[in-house]
Amino acid sequence: PVDGPLGGRHVVITAGPTREALDPVRYLTNHSSGKMGYALADAARQAGARVTLISGPVQLACPAGVARIDVTTAEEMLSATSRAVDEGCDLFVATAAVADYRPAEVAGDKIKKTDGTVSLSMVPNPDILATIAARTDRPFTVGFAAETRDVAAYARDKMARKKLDMIVANDVSQSGLGFNSDQNAVTVFSGEGEARFGPSDKRALAVDLLDYISHTMNA
Ligand code: C5P
Repeated sequence: PVDGPLGGRHVVITAGPTREALDPVRYLTNHSSGKMGYALADAARQAGARVTLISGPVQLACPAGVARIDVTTAEEMLSATSRAVDEGCDLFVATAAVADYRPAEVAGDKIKKTDGTVSLSMVPNPDILATIAARTDRPFTVGFAAETRDVAAYARDKMARKKLDMIVANDVSQSGLGFNSDQNAVTVFSGEGEARFGPSDKRALAVDLLDYISHTMNA
């Protein structure tokens, strides 16, 4: 079946948080729900694409017809994403809230409580989006940016630095929108200029965004 604007294309999407272990019982993570990435995966499938969804731990059902690969850490998310892109990929959308750092060491046994303060040594995680964008066989590459101020300037800077084709910026300072919410409003930057979507339900927004992405990549 090659019907739809993305018929016959392979779309790879990262979604959700990553979870970085401290010891066998503890981890560091964030509040990402995965909703935007899952909604985009569903919309891409409905646009005719074969979809691979690389997902951190979330409480969401896999959309029908989408191949989900479950991962936990940023390093696992990078290797699963690279393998999916190796199969040939036309569009990569990074919605995951990847932990920027992970504990320098994962304790083999549960860390014991003491009376004093403790400090944690952290090392940077790989940037999955920048790694995929740096490939010679790069797909059309779309990133997300959650900013609390100077949204346009930071988003454009991120697009240039990570060598993206498009960036979708959320203003997370607006309450009830974005992170861990059902509603979102975004501004999209690309070579085509600037476009605003929402505020609307993440599912409706995903359909409009996917439509805009497929027009831009086919332009
Ligand atoms: O630099 P920043 O984290 O704000 O960039 C956000 C964008 O980069 C999102 O698209 C996110 O999915 C992606 N990202 C990534 N790997 C990281 C950090 C961010 O793919 N380690």
